[in-house]
This record gives sequence, C-alpha cells and structure tokens, in this order.
Amino acid sequence: MSQVLVASNRGPVSFSLSDDGALSMRRGGGGLVSGLAGVAAETDVLWVCAALGDADRTAAGQAPDNRLERAGHDTGGASVRMLDIPEATFHRAYNAVANSTLWFVHHLLYDTPRSPHFDARARRDWQSYEAYNAAFADALALDAAPGAKAAIQDYHLSLAPRMLRDRRPDLKIAHFSHTPWAPPEYYRLLPDDIGEQVLRGILGADHAGFLTERWASAFLDCCERLLPDARVDRAARTVASSGRVTRIGVHGLGVDGAALRERAARPDVAERAEALRAQVGDRQLIVRIDRTELSKNIVRGLAAYRELLLNHPEWRGRVVHLAFAYPSRTDLPEYRDYTAAVRRAAQQITDEFGTPDWDPLILQVKDDYPRSLAAYGLADVLVVNPIRDGMNLVAKEGPILSGRGCALVLSREAGAAAELADNALVVNPYDVSQTAEALHRALLMPSREREERRARLVAAATALPPQRWFADQLAALG
Ligand code: G6P
Repeated sequence: MSQVLVASNRGPVSFSLSDDGALSMRRGGGGLVSGLAGVAAETDVLWVCAALGDADRTAAGQAPDNRLERAGHDTGGASVRMLDIPEATFHRAYNAVANSTLWFVHHLLYDTPRSPHFDARARRDWQSYEAYNAAFADALALDAAPGAKAAIQDYHLSLAPRMLRDRRPDLKIAHFSHTPWAPPEYYRLLPDDIGEQVLRGILGADHAGFLTERWASAFLDCCERLLPDARVDRAARTVASSGRVTRIGVHGLGVDGAALRERAARPDVAERAEALRAQVGDRQLIVRIDRTELSKNIVRGLAAYRELLLNHPEWRGRVVHLAFAYPSRTDLPEYRDYTAAVRRAAQQITDEFGTPDWDPLILQVKDDYPRSLAAYGLADVLVVNPIRDGMNLVAKEGPILSGRGCALVLSREAGAAAELADNALVVNPYDVSQTAEALHRALLMPSREREERRARLVAAATALPPQRWFADQLAALG
C-alpha cells in the first residue's frame, strides 16, 4: 500500500474538554477531509497537524506516540499525529506570522501607513515560524516510508517543503496554497529575506498548487521578480532554482454535491429552516455566510444593504437580510475590532429602518452549520463580496442547496469568480453603491432566469469535487 502524508495546521479532528474533564472528539468538515475520503481506501494516510489548545494537547499526550487512532479514537481511516508545539512558539507562528502577516499580505489587508512594522519583535516571531515549520518537517521525515508522497497545506507551512526536502530527498512533496497569492508590489512589503525564504520554502516542493490561474501566476511573478537565480517558464509552468524544478499547478476546489445535499436533508436543518421561515415570513431573503474575517468584507456588504433600503424604499418591509458570521481568530485584536464593527453596522440598519413588524436584518455571530445550510435553502439572493479570497466555497454551496433559484452577487476578487462569474452578478467589492444596485437587480431577477443561472452555477460548483481535487494533486507528483 502506498503512503500519503498530509500536513496542515488544523487537522481532521479536534477535541474539547467537558466540565467533568472528559475528552470529546469532533471531526472537521473542510475540503481536505472530504478530499482524503477518496484516496483513504487504497492508501495508508498519515495526517500531521498541530494540537490547537489544551484539549488537543491532552488527547495527543495520552495517545501512544501522539497518534490518535492508536489511542482508540475513530479518525475515519487516517492516522492522525498531533504535534504538541510549545504554546509560545505556536502563538507567534500561527497568530503573529501566519494570520497577521502572511494572511494579510496575500489578502491585501494592511492599512499601510501604519502597518506592517517589522522590528526586532517581528524577527523573534519569524524564528518561531521557522521552528513551527521545522517541527512539521521533523515529524514528516520521521514517519514517511521511502518514496512516500507528502501533501503540505497552506501559508502556515510555507517553509516546510524545503525543510522536508533537506531531511528526506527521497520523498515526493506537494504544497498547496488555499489563499490568493499577492502581486509582487504588495508581496515586497515583507522583509526581503523573509519574502525570499517563503518563496524558496515552497519551491522545495516538486509541485506547488494554487486554486486559480490568477494566484498561480502571481506566484510566478514573485519568483521572477524576487529570486535572481530562478528561471520561470510560463508556458511550461515551472520554476527552476537551486538545481531543481518545481511544477506549478492550478487545481480549483469544488463541492461534493451529493454529500452536501445528504447533510442538508437531516432533521436539524429542517428544524432550523422552519424556525427561520417563521421568523421572516414570506419576505425575500438576502443571505450571507462568512467567518468574521476581515477579507470577507462584511461591513461593506451591510453598507450596501443599507444603501439598497435608502435608494429603493420599495424593498422596506419586503426583504430581510440574514448575515451569519462564524466567530474567527478571536485571539487577534483586528478580528475582535472587526466583529464589533460588523455588529455596529448591523445595529445601525436595525435602528434606522426597523419597524414593530419588520426586522430588516438578522445578524448572528455564532457557529451553527445546520442553520447555515437551512439559510442556503431559503435564500433568494446570496451575497459573497470578499476583498480577496482564495476560492470561497459559500458561493458554490449556496446554489447547490437553494430551493428558490438564488441569485448570486459575487465579488470579482473571489477565486470562485473564475468559474462562476458568467452566471453571477459580479461586483467590485470596494464599490458599495454598485453592490447595492446588484442586490436590487438580484431581488428583481425573474424566477425563471434565477433558476437557469442556478443550474449552471451548480454544474460549475460540482465540477471539481474535493476527491478529484486531492487525487489530481497526488497524480501531479507522479
Ligand atoms: C482559511 C485557510 C485555512 C484555514 C481556514 C480557517 O481557509 O486557508 O488553512 O484552516 O482559513 O482558519 P483558522 O485558522 O481560523 O481555523
């Protein structure tokens, strides 16, 4: 049996501790988890991830060799090794470097007159990021069978491919970026040596994957401009440097439509759908579902809804906006401030337009997956307006579950626009007035046109299910 190793910050399972000290395990539902399901039967899979918090650390500590299935946990066929990275190292690597620096660079999130500000402290944070990546490389090097394939995920682990290659030149290594990639002018905000190290880290892989052409070509632009010795061949999509060649691949990620429909058919979703319908009556529904994430542009989205109600008063009393925001990255002050700004924007709309028998907006800052699935089913309009997004699966899931045709208002800066733009109402995410007009057009769209567009959106959204996405990356390793 061949062996595949997967490495990512967040693993396929996580633990929580109840008040009486008992551990309970929860399986994650991301694309990667579904992707692996397709290869798990004929492959020996080891997933290396970080322990995220005390409950994970306890579970990992109790498992022989830190491997959870050996402790009797049902991890769905994969072996899972959680790395117990010292808390301070983890905090600096994950919060300070991965989420506050690399994420900000790739999503163009800096308020540049004030940040970034790379000082001695940032150097210390960077050393922790190196140590965190080295911990993954060590674990993978230790566990990999000769010639095994290693699939390393995302910006948390951009140095690990090179580090692993240095330790185990016999392995076949892939890296995949789930984020956008910054254009060179913006990427150069990073200190020169750090920017170079990140590029060379990824080039340690045999295959570097991206979600769209646009992000892959931004990566090639950065290599060309910032690595003097690199030879970029755009036609062949390769980068040669340090005597090796890395192939660059584009692998769009879509949705497993059957699995999503099956999940949405369960009673917890029906219950929530009924409650939502009772709450909003027969009014049209504009839905958005995001993490409370700066790049998701929730505040401008709410401002667009406000402008819709101002400019088109005929919608007052006839439409409700459901905004579901999953709490996210609450260790970072920027995220806490952003969540507060989202709440203020929502309150302003309620105060300005609400009447005794009409609540114009329902904002929920809560992680409730079945409720989100219920909202997809009821939506007349789905808004996805990120500043920048690697792909955005909400834009793909919504049409699949929509029971009402669901018009999609979509940012041109979401990776998903590459596949969905033809059948969406495409907006510039910074243009609030244009977004408001797109909402107006979406609400007016005749049901036949909505349904026709929805059918084409579903075809595009399900064309590359996670199983295929993951299998293609493995195949690209040869
Ligand atoms: C993005 C990243 C993923 C990450 C997810 C949630 O989609 O590409 O790697 O798992 O955000 O991030 P978090 O660290 O907040 O769970």
